[in-house]
Amino acid sequence: MNLQHLLNKESWSKDELIMLLSCKDHDLQLLLQKGLETKAKYVGRKVYLRGLIELSNTCAKNCLYCGIRCGNLQIERYFLSDEEVLNAVDFAVEHNFASIVMQSGERTDKAFTDRVTSLLQKIKQRHNQPIGITLSMGEQTEEVYRRWMDAGANRYLLRIESTNLDLYHKIHPNDSLHNYQKRLDSLSLLKKLGYQTGTGVMIGLPFQTLDDLADDLLFFKEFDVDMIGMGPYVEHPDTPLFEYQSLLQPKEQRLELALKMIAVLRIMMPEINIAAATALQSLDDLGREKALLAGANVVMPNLTPEKYREGYKLYENKPGTHEEAHDTTAALERRILSVGDTIAYGEQGDSKHFTFKKTNYNLS
Ligand code: 5AD
Ligand code: SF4
Repeated sequence: MNLQHLLNKESWSKDELIMLLSCKDHDLQLLLQKGLETKAKYVGRKVYLRGLIELSNTCAKNCLYCGIRCGNLQIERYFLSDEEVLNAVDFAVEHNFASIVMQSGERTDKAFTDRVTSLLQKIKQRHNQPIGITLSMGEQTEEVYRRWMDAGANRYLLRIESTNLDLYHKIHPNDSLHNYQKRLDSLSLLKKLGYQTGTGVMIGLPFQTLDDLADDLLFFKEFDVDMIGMGPYVEHPDTPLFEYQSLLQPKEQRLELALKMIAVLRIMMPEINIAAATALQSLDDLGREKALLAGANVVMPNLTPEKYREGYKLYENKPGTHEEAHDTTAALERRILSVGDTIAYGEQGDSKHFTFKKTNYNLS
C-alpha cells in the first residue's frame, strides 16, 4: 500500500500504524507534512502556552527511568513555598499565558494533598480572570481528584508510560505502588470526574518495539484522550535503566520516532492538544520546533525558580536548567514564531476534542 493512500484513511489497523511509524526519506517528509496540514486545518497554527511549575521533586515512587525516583540519593529534595508558586502564577498571568501546569513527584500523603488543595484555592483567589490549571501529580484517590477539581483544577496529565504490560514491568519496580491496572483506573477516574484528561508514553525505551508504539496510539484513540504529552526516553545515569543504554537507538532516530508518533497521532485525533515535550529538546536543540511542525500545538515554558531546576532533572541534559523564567520564555517565544506558528496569548486553549464531547454530551 502506498503512503499517500495510508495518510488519507480515516482509521488505521495496527499493521498500518506500524507502516506509518517505519516510513523513511520522502515518505517521512510526507507524513510530517500531513501532520502539520492536519493541525492547521483542525486546530489552527497556533500554540497554547502553559506555564510549568515544578512544585516538588519529592516522590514516593521509584520508576526505573526517572532521575527523581525516591531511590536516587544524589539529589537534594525541594518543595516550593506558597510565595514561589504564586509568583510563578503571577508571571504566567502577566504574560497572558492563561494556563498553568503544576507538576510534582507522586505522593499521596495527607500533608501533600492538603497542600496542593490549599495552593489551588490561593491561586483561584488571587486572580480575577479564569486560568486553566493542569495538574500532573500521579495516581490519587477519587476523593482527592474531586477535591482538587473543586479547588480549581480542570485538566490532569497522567502518562501511562507504556501500554505493553511486559514493558511496563521492565521499567517499573514490581510492587503494588507501580501497578499498571491502578494507573489505568486512575485515568478512567479522571475522565469520569470531568477533567480534560491527558496521558502519554515515552518513546524509544529499551525493549520497546514499533508494535508497542502502535498499540499505544490505538490506546489513546480507544480511551478517547483529550491531550497527549509524549516524548523521547532520555537516559539518566543515576537510574537502574541506564544499564540498558546500549540497547537504545541513537538520539537522532529516537527524535525522529517521536516526531512520527506526533504526526500519526495528529492525523488520528485531529482535535486533541498535543504537547511539544521538553525532552525533545534535550535530544536536539530544535526538537520542540520540529514537533510543532509535525502537529504539536502546546508548549510549556518552565516557570520553576532557577535555583530548583537542577533538582528536577528527570533525565540527562534537561534544557533550561540554568535560565530564569524570563529568559526561557523570551527564547521560547522566538522559537515558536520561527516555525510560522502564532502564540495564542490570553486563550486557555481547552482541548477542542474535549469541548466537542462536552457540548454534545450536554445537548443529549
Ligand atoms: N526520559 C524521558 N521522560 C521521562 N520521564 C521520567 N523520566 C524520564 C526519562 N528518563 C517522564 C515520564 C513521566 C514524566 C513526568 O516524565 O513519562 O510521566
Ligand atoms: Fe516519581 Fe513520576 Fe519520576 Fe516515577 S516518573 S519516579 S512517579 S516523578
